[in-house]
Formats: sequence, structure tokens, C-alpha cells
Amino acid sequence: MESNYLELLKKMLIDYDQIGKEEYHPLTQVDRQPRNALLFLLDKWLRSRNYTICKTKKVLADQRLNGLDWPARAKTMIGYHRLTHLEQCVHRIRVDKIAGDVLEAGVWRGGASMYLKALLKVNGLTHKTLWMADSFQGLPRPTKDYPHDHKVRLHRHPILKATREEVEANFKAYGLWDDGIRIIEGWFEDTLPKNIVEKLSLLRLDADLYESTHLGLQHLYPKLQAGGFVIIDDYHAFQFCKQAVDDYRTTHAIQEPLIKIDTEAVFWRKRA
Ligand SMILES: C[S@@+](CC[C@H](N)C(=O)[O-])C[C@H]1O[C@@H](n2cnc3c(N)ncnc32)[C@H](O)[C@@H]1O
Repeated sequence: MESNYLELLKKMLIDYDQIGKEEYHPLTQVDRQPRNALLFLLDKWLRSRNYTICKTKKVLADQRLNGLDWPARAKTMIGYHRLTHLEQCVHRIRVDKIAGDVLEAGVWRGGASMYLKALLKVNGLTHKTLWMADSFQGLPRPTKDYPHDHKVRLHRHPILKATREEVEANFKAYGLWDDGIRIIEGWFEDTLPKNIVEKLSLLRLDADLYESTHLGLQHLYPKLQAGGFVIIDDYHAFQFCKQAVDDYRTTHAIQEPLIKIDTEAVFWRKRA
């Protein structure tokens, strides 16, 4: 019964039923180019008549299952296989009795965190708090403090912004919202040094940039308990994310092997 629930939930969270079909991305979600100003004016006029301009994109199975596309409506972009890997992590946390809460830094529409919450429930681990850290306004602009992010323009993609209200509504729609959830809202550079999390058994870093990955590791990895899992969603997706992880591991002489989850994500387990 539980495995049916998890299977169904996973498929719902990635909009599995859209595979092979065309998705509609509203213009305001995918474009901000000033050269398209006329298109935006037209869209504004159309919206006043309950129409809108959309970009269409066919959903490919390989992309959606491996978390390689930015879905128009799905609650997560991490794909089927990375969700399945979370099942294995939470199972081990239960069996090996690893202390500490679970935290995702980089939440977007909340789908991966929703799945973590469902896994805590299914595994009888509801005493563990689910923490979600995000600006809820997309990625920060690159700053000169982090030269590896210098040319990154991810802050310009409107599709990467999801509000706190949207995330809460998504949890509520799936019956997953409760008192065991804590939100850390704001830029990581302001929020993560505040030290509000005590112990972690799972740390999911999914915030793309060198800066965001570095701050996540710097402030949260020390909270990870022995036997706990750290997951880096974008290690093989973005060179700047990989660099942040490699730098941190070198500086702190972390020897645990990096294990591949799929084409983009990796994890390691903190030595017991
Ligand atoms: C790729 S999305 C996360 C995808 C999500 N985990 C999922 O399940 O699909 C990246 C998220 O990281 C957040 N983010 C990136 N850098 C951040 C920072 N420095 N401070 C706060 N939020 C940040 C963005 O707002 C965005 O919601």
C-alpha cells in the first residue's frame, strides 16, 4: 500500500502524465528579453481578454525521468530517479537510526521536499523536522565574491522563481503540510549563518550556484551526523556547482567517495 502511494506521489510530483505531450510555458515564465517587448505588450492585452501567449515544448521521457528539464507545472524538476534515491536514503536513516532533521536548500515549487515529507511519514520519522531554505524569489545575482559564478545568468530565468505561498499551497494540496515543517526564507548568505538547525540526517543541496552550494556546505554540513547523507543535485549539471563541492571537500579533507545518483546528481554518506 505504502509503495503504491509513493509510486503515485512520485509520478504526480513530476507530472509523469505529461510525457510525450506538449507542455505550455506562459511567456512570462520563460522569457524576459527586452527585444520581445512587443510580444509582452500583446500578451498583456491578450491577458485582459483571458488569453495568454505560451511557448510549447514536448516533454521527453528521458528528460523528465532524469530531471533534465524545467517543467511548466510539475512540483519538482529533479525527476523520477532522484526521488527514488531519496527513498533509499530515508530508509537507511530509519534502519541505522541516524539522528537529526532533514533539510533541502533550494526548494523551488517544493516537490523534492514534499517527497521527503511523505517519506518521513511513511517511515514513522515524523519526529524529524523538515527544513526548507529558499529565497522564494529565485537565484541571487552573481557577486564578485564568487568569481566562479561570474558569468551565470540563472537569476534572469523567471521560471526558477517560486513563492513561499506557492510551496505551502502545493504541500497542502497533497495533504503534506503540518507542524513538523520549518521554512528558512531569505538569501542563504543572510539565513544560513544564523545557526537555527541543530542536527541533520539528510542535507539536500539544490541551489545551482557556487555561492549557494558553498554556503550550504559551510553552514550545514557540520550539522550532518555520522551516517547522514549529503546530496548535491547539480554536481554534474553545472561546473560552478561541482567546483564548490570539490573545493569544500579538499579544504576539509573529506575522503568519503562521491556516488553518482544519475547523470547530474551525486551524494556521499558522512563517515560513521
Ligand atoms: C533548481 S531550483 C530547486 C529545485 C527543487 N529542489 C526541486 O525539487 O525541483 C533552485 C532553487 O534555489 C534557490 N536558491 C538558489 N540560490 C539561493 C540562495 N543563495 N539563497 C536562497 N535561495 C537560493 C532558488 O530560489 C530556487 O528556488
